[in-house]
Amino acid sequence: MTESNTNTSLHALRSASTDEIGSYYDQWAAGYDTDLAAFGYQAPQWVARHIAEAGVTLNAPILDAGCGTGLTGQALHALGYDKISGADISEESLAIARTKACYGTLQRQDLDQPLAFEDNAFAAIACVGTLTYVKNPRDLMASFCRVGQPGALVVFTQRDDCYDAAFAAALDSQVQAGRWRCRAHTGPHAYLPDHPEYGQDSAIYLDIYEVLD
Ligand SMILES: C[S@@+](CC[C@H](N)C(=O)[O-])C[C@H]1O[C@@H](n2cnc3c(N)ncnc32)[C@H](O)[C@@H]1O
Repeated sequence: MTESNTNTSLHALRSASTDEIGSYYDQWAAGYDTDLAAFGYQAPQWVARHIAEAGVTLNAPILDAGCGTGLTGQALHALGYDKISGADISEESLAIARTKACYGTLQRQDLDQPLAFEDNAFAAIACVGTLTYVKNPRDLMASFCRVGQPGALVVFTQRDDCYDAAFAAALDSQVQAGRWRCRAHTGPHAYLPDHPEYGQDSAIYLDIYEVLD
């Protein structure tokens, strides 16, 4: 996939079906890391740093939900984390992630379906650059609370144009249920600052929630 056809369709992709999104990322997988580096993408490193600075211990189990080619796993591994599970819809992206040898487990998972993980399995959950595509964030937030241990951190990014009232309500549903609390809502941060077309226009928020039970 070339840089130009990747870029022009990224915004439109949000409304595509999950199968179409998976195919898109399958086709992009081989060039994804090179393209994202050229765009100045730093979100995986930010999220990994927040997890470390919050005191999550190095042997704690971490879920990378929507791991793609493994950039967040790599960033966590570089900080010393060694129990990372990755999940994504794109088999080709998972295959690239597997070559990086920083995940204990990698599996295909549609984040709009029930998560195939035990209750209280993780001390932290990262979800980077992925919530844009999730059709039902309310159910996914409830699942994060289920698979997160009491005290687990859920650290995610969301594009500013997708951080709408419905998305905020999905987050708040778990606050109202007493299942998590917001520890930080930061941003907007530059998302792809060196992107040739919309580098100056796109931004993301980075949020940190703490699972309560
Ligand atoms: C922009 S990439 C981010 C990947 C990685 N987290 C990163 O920061 O480089 C978005 C990822 O979300 C995945 N994705 C999109 N919809 C998904 C879904 N419903 N279930 C699981 N993964 C999904 C795509 O396959 C892709 O790997």
